[in-house]
Amino acid sequence: MTKGNQRHAQVLSQEAMDFLRVRAGGMYVDCTLGLAGHAEGIARLLGAQGRLIGFDRDPEALELARQRLDRVCEELGSQAPQVTLVGEAFSSIAEVVQPASVDGLLADFGVSSLQLDEARRGFSFQADGPLDMRMDTRSGPTAAQVVNEASERELADLIYEYGEERRSRRIARAIVRGRPVATTGQLARIVASAASPMKQERIHPATRTFQALRIYVNRELDEIRALLEAAPKLLKPSARLVVIGFHSLEDRIAKDSLREGARQGIWEILTRKPVTAGEEEMERNPRSRSAKLRAGERQ
Ligand SMILES: C[S@@+](CC[C@H](N)C(=O)[O-])C[C@H]1O[C@@H](n2cnc3c(N)ncnc32)[C@H](O)[C@@H]1O
Repeated sequence: MTKGNQRHAQVLSQEAMDFLRVRAGGMYVDCTLGLAGHAEGIARLLGAQGRLIGFDRDPEALELARQRLDRVCEELGSQAPQVTLVGEAFSSIAEVVQPASVDGLLADFGVSSLQLDEARRGFSFQADGPLDMRMDTRSGPTAAQVVNEASERELADLIYEYGEERRSRRIARAIVRGRPVATTGQLARIVASAASPMKQERIHPATRTFQALRIYVNRELDEIRALLEAAPKLLKPSARLVVIGFHSLEDRIAKDSLREGARQGIWEILTRKPVTAGEEEMERNPRSRSAKLRAGERQ
């Protein structure tokens, strides 16, 4: 999928398709369309009787996904499935999708490379842009508002909780001293000056702080919890849930939710250990290195 020169290679593509076990005529939900790489894979297997519902709360991503899926459906002609796209958070899934109607549900959490690579979206410390970080650009506080308005204590807590950053207090103090903070570059410099790289640390010193702000601004963990709570009611018996997480906080929620569901007889866990990318994919797509896929079958 390209927009200008941008490309987002979907991760664990084949593995996601295999676990979803897409069958013609079925009804599937892609909760995180992004640039619709996974969604295209599903759409091509559905046939004319099939249905795909896709969510993305980022209006730009939704529009690009729409264009891609329109092209795919045009190519498929009479074999094109029915496609419905929803520009809302996936936590609202139960308002859109009927109970016990879904054969497979996919969620590929986090940000897309389109969001990361666009400096003006303010997600990345590698490209200087306004400190925004909202996926849904229609509402909610920006990262700049959080950084400039939260107390030092609140900043330290959220950087610790959502970034798993041990140097959170030092970083929060430096941010408060450096206010007002308007750009990603400015924030990255403040964090780097407060938190010199730890021994053996291979990531940029601002990585965890940026992750924390992004999760906080987009309420990402609450969204995931809401989705995993709604999923069992929406899936038919024997239907499949496939989730892909990129950091330990996302993966832990998925793991715990599936385990608890298995204990209650809701899920059969299909992935005893999370599925990760093979060497070839990691080489081709560095983003896949931290991806972990988990899947369950509705009992
Ligand atoms: C990792 S990308 C998905 C990539 C996609 N699987 C593909 O093949 O291109 C995640 C996408 O999900 C969207 N997203 C993240 N959290 C969301 C939420 N709670 N509700 C709706 N969309 C969300 C983001 O805006 C982003 O476009």
